[in-house]
Amino acid sequence: MKQLQEKIMQDGKVLSDEVLKVDTFLNHQIDPELMKAIGEEFAERFKDSGVTKVLTIESSGIAPAMMTGLMLAVPVIFARKRKSLTMTDNLLTASVHSYTKNETNEISVSKDFLEKGDKVLLIDDFLANGQVVLGLQDIIEQAEADLVGVGIVIEKGFQPGGTTIREKSIRVESLAIIESLQNGQVKFKEEGTAL
Ligand code: G4P
Repeated sequence: MKQLQEKIMQDGKVLSDEVLKVDTFLNHQIDPELMKAIGEEFAERFKDSGVTKVLTIESSGIAPAMMTGLMLAVPVIFARKRKSLTMTDNLLTASVHSYTKNETNEISVSKDFLEKGDKVLLIDDFLANGQVVLGLQDIIEQAEADLVGVGIVIEKGFQPGGTTIREKSIRVESLAIIESLQNGQVKFKEEGTAL
């Protein structure tokens, strides 16, 4: 997605060979116009998948997921990383390890919102090691719902998540795939080329 690539080139800061900072439009301050365009793009790509729910995880997945749900006219659910005061029982849970942060979180979604037969589109801001996607897939299976695909804003193509998820025959649509962050430079994977 050209508009997103341009934004990353303009505002993204390469913090190391592994980490890209995008807090001017995605992870802290949010660019609503860009999020709208992202929602339209995901909605277009998944328009024939019969999506009934969009599922993401707090916090940075919520903005792109919200816009996608708006465009597809379906509800948006976000998995929680911490137990909320009111969400005490009737939970679907999965354990997710973050290699980036070296911590494990129990993520949860209320059984009230994911139902048997739902066709679920997962949306997230980053795909790195793929552990969040695998945890959310586990929750979708527990609900006896179907995962129809995964929409990612920025995939770090040099980390294993994309391969892990695609090898499970899950459809992954990434709007920008970063091939490398070496030497302080963002290098994108061009569409149709292998990493
Ligand atoms: P994984 O799900 O693909 O295995 O990812 P991982 O655990 O490695 O990532 C943990 C957190 O770090 C996630 O956010 C993820 O979005 C974020 N992240 C990973 N790589 C980058 C990067 O290069 N740049 C930025 N900006 N973020 C990255 P989180 O902790 O859930 O944060 P938030 O959603 O609450 O903002």
